[in-house]
Amino acid sequence: MMFRIAPTMDSFLIEGGTRLCGEVQISGSKNAVLPIMAATLLTAETCVIRHVPDLSDVRFMCRILTSLGAQVEFDGSTLTVCAAKITGTGDYDLIRKMRGSICILGPLLARLRTASVSLPGGCVIGTRPIDLHLKGLRSLGTEIHVEGGYVKAHAPELNGAHVFLGGRAGPTVLGTANILMAAALADGITVLESAACEPEIIDLADFLNAMGARIQGAGSPTITITGVRELHGVEHEVIPDRIEAGTFAVAAAASGGQVTLRGARPDHLGAVLDKLQEAGARIDRRGGALTVSAGSFLRPVDITTMPYSGFPTDMQAQLMALMCLAPGTSIITERIFESRFMHASELMRLGADIGIEGPSAIVKGGKPLSGAEVMASDLRASAALVIAGIAASGKTQVHRVYHLDRGYERMEVKLEKLGARIQRVPGE
Ligand code: EPZ
Repeated sequence: MMFRIAPTMDSFLIEGGTRLCGEVQISGSKNAVLPIMAATLLTAETCVIRHVPDLSDVRFMCRILTSLGAQVEFDGSTLTVCAAKITGTGDYDLIRKMRGSICILGPLLARLRTASVSLPGGCVIGTRPIDLHLKGLRSLGTEIHVEGGYVKAHAPELNGAHVFLGGRAGPTVLGTANILMAAALADGITVLESAACEPEIIDLADFLNAMGARIQGAGSPTITITGVRELHGVEHEVIPDRIEAGTFAVAAAASGGQVTLRGARPDHLGAVLDKLQEAGARIDRRGGALTVSAGSFLRPVDITTMPYSGFPTDMQAQLMALMCLAPGTSIITERIFESRFMHASELMRLGADIGIEGPSAIVKGGKPLSGAEVMASDLRASAALVIAGIAASGKTQVHRVYHLDRGYERMEVKLEKLGARIQRVPGE
């Protein structure tokens, strides 16, 4: 099956000044489904995964699984994978291009005891090291060396171990995923300390336990995995995407509108909803739905990004766009990645007043934004530019929206249904 990925140079043309009103269906979580797709490599039986978002990152991962020898079918919502016959060497070019692909390393080692994958690409938000992934896999008995841009790993035996996974910026999400998957088929008990607590880790552990793994403590900093002999096929529904939901919640507040986030999990959005309320938005959770409405005014707020359940780094750019509209000074401090302020210079092209001082952005909000041509640089920065374009007066063209297509399913269609004047302009 071919996994077509949209043309690369499309842009969004936005006529700002509209309020977003209505309801939006939240798609499945990109950051949950990518490690879950990697986990299908752990069994020779068929896995069926539902509520899968139709994203270019998902289609990329389908190509990677296919390059390893798996049979993959994707109808845009349900994914069927059978990894009965797989090799341990993935397509260098594909794996290098997508950071999330590093999480095939653990399952390949667990299943085949050998793997050779390219070092994942860094990206504009930081160098994206994998030292903690390799530390964890070595603790389980894996021999690893890096040469020619490849990680070459071999594990004659995988034995349970006590692994501390904390790094300079706290836990590692995909590192936790990798070690979870390798330990699931190791001999003996593995204890992960300083594990990531993100909901996406809980969803992965639920998927693995449904396959027959024995994992306890997912969602807490200490996870215990008792290795088993083999894992079987499973059916699973992916959790909703908390960052997509948060993005639409910020867009509602920024546009002066009211949006119901159908299918969102408020319990995954605590820090984001708390900051939106502090900024003046109204949050309504009645009737099992989550509705975010703009208040009569916006207040400046300070945020510092932290590991879950603190304020998520993946919502930092979107909140910066909102703070450009709030009269007063907001201080946004990025503690997870070393260079995740690429959106600031593009927001300034729309009239924002932002100064960068080390890990902090000082936003002097309240000046009206006016449309301009801007360039997307990474996934969440692009979302921030779309939010700002909707709030600005006049026309904004956001170039290189392939960044958005990586992590937002048909974003322009969802926004248009909410009343935004937005269209996708096919790339040259
Ligand atoms: C996941 O990336 C997400 N991606 C990211 O979302 C998210 O921003 C990030 O977690 C943090 O929440 C996916 O799940 C596909 P990390 P991951 O390892 O796992 C350092 C988005 O926009 N670190 O938790 O790659 C690292 O440099 C994307 O959807 C090490 O030092 O991130 C960073 O400073 C962007 N050594 C911090 O830890 C390592 O071995 C957190 O990184 C690994 C990480």
